[in-house]
Amino acid sequence: AAEGDPAILNLPDWSKQLGMPVALNPYGQPSKYESQLLRRESPGLTRVPQASVSFTPLQGLFGIITPSGLHFERHHQGWVDVDPAVHRLMINGSDPAFLKKPKVYTMDDLMRLPSVSRIHFIECGANTGLEWGNVAVPTVQYTHGMLSCSEFTGVPLKLLLEDCGVDYKKARYVLAEGADGSSMTRTIPMEMVENGEVFVAYGMNGEMLRPENGYPLRLVVPGVQGVSWVKWLRRIEVGDKPYATKDEAVHYIDLMPDGKHRQYTSIQECKSVITTPSGGQRLLEKGFYNVSGVAWSGRGKITRVDVSFDGGVNWQQARIEGPVQNKALTRFNINWVWDGKEAMLQSRAIDETGYVQPTYGQLRAVRGSKSIYHNNAIQTWKVEQNGEISNVQVL
Ligand code: MTE
Repeated sequence: AAEGDPAILNLPDWSKQLGMPVALNPYGQPSKYESQLLRRESPGLTRVPQASVSFTPLQGLFGIITPSGLHFERHHQGWVDVDPAVHRLMINGSDPAFLKKPKVYTMDDLMRLPSVSRIHFIECGANTGLEWGNVAVPTVQYTHGMLSCSEFTGVPLKLLLEDCGVDYKKARYVLAEGADGSSMTRTIPMEMVENGEVFVAYGMNGEMLRPENGYPLRLVVPGVQGVSWVKWLRRIEVGDKPYATKDEAVHYIDLMPDGKHRQYTSIQECKSVITTPSGGQRLLEKGFYNVSGVAWSGRGKITRVDVSFDGGVNWQQARIEGPVQNKALTRFNINWVWDGKEAMLQSRAIDETGYVQPTYGQLRAVRGSKSIYHNNAIQTWKVEQNGEISNVQVL
């Protein structure tokens, strides 16, 4: 140190020569020094990579927008790159009385219609699903990475249904169907459509959707679990009752402590997680750290996030980075001076309905410990004296 820092004293090559030309990468790429920040598959989680999931690296992201190339993927039968010139959206009724003028829209038809752009989170209902019984995976990428947040652009479904002459008195449910091999189908109650929140999206973060995320058309159902955000959307049917398709009668149901299954629990309740520092990382030395994370609620806006450094005994209010958006990720930060002793980091979010994110003890008292979906319990990261951070559970 007495000689001074060589990175200051020696002029690096890039300061002494011409840089690279414009448009060398006509579609830009991150720096080669960021090559470890990738979507990752959890080894052994699924039998085939087509019916699988890749997780968003939450530990390396800032703010609330997930870069499109790092948006998590969940496919039931592989992803497809659909030709927009031959893609169609058909809208029909299960009975002619429910919808007077069934129609088929091309992508050109849809992109001429009045559009909206809104920032929303999408979370798979199975996010954090491995942790129901006990800790299972080491990092926030695997505990919480079936979560992304983007600005989506498209046409409100309400506008399309009205264009087709829907009768809201008779048609109380919507069935959405995807064009991939899984024929993904999900029922959505008409109230969610009538309030204007559900839309068919072609845009994501200022560009067309990526193929993995449903190019050229997907459904956006704000606040609702990811499975209802049907990708490669090819058909909407309106009907008078829930459809109980394979994707809602057998899958995406919650096993309750009494042995019965709960159906149609689709709202993602209020939840939060500290993303840095988090499991698998290591604090270098005692001193100041910016502790940062995200909070979200399927029922509206986040109003407050508290952080504990002692496993939930004492709580301090975190700073919320606004403007806070409806049914979107919300970034929070809090200052922390680590004294070099063991610590237990937790965050607890509260939404505009007054709902408070539960502890594992509170969640299991109602839901048991054998479920897969809708685990929104408070996450704990344990910091050891040597700075190593691991995933633990506090009841
Ligand atoms: N839509 C179709 N057509 N096929 C699918 O396999 N997967 C669903 C949903 N929509 C799926 C689909 C599930 S389970 C989730 S969590 C989200 O898409 C994931 O969206 P993403 O891959 O854009 O993250």
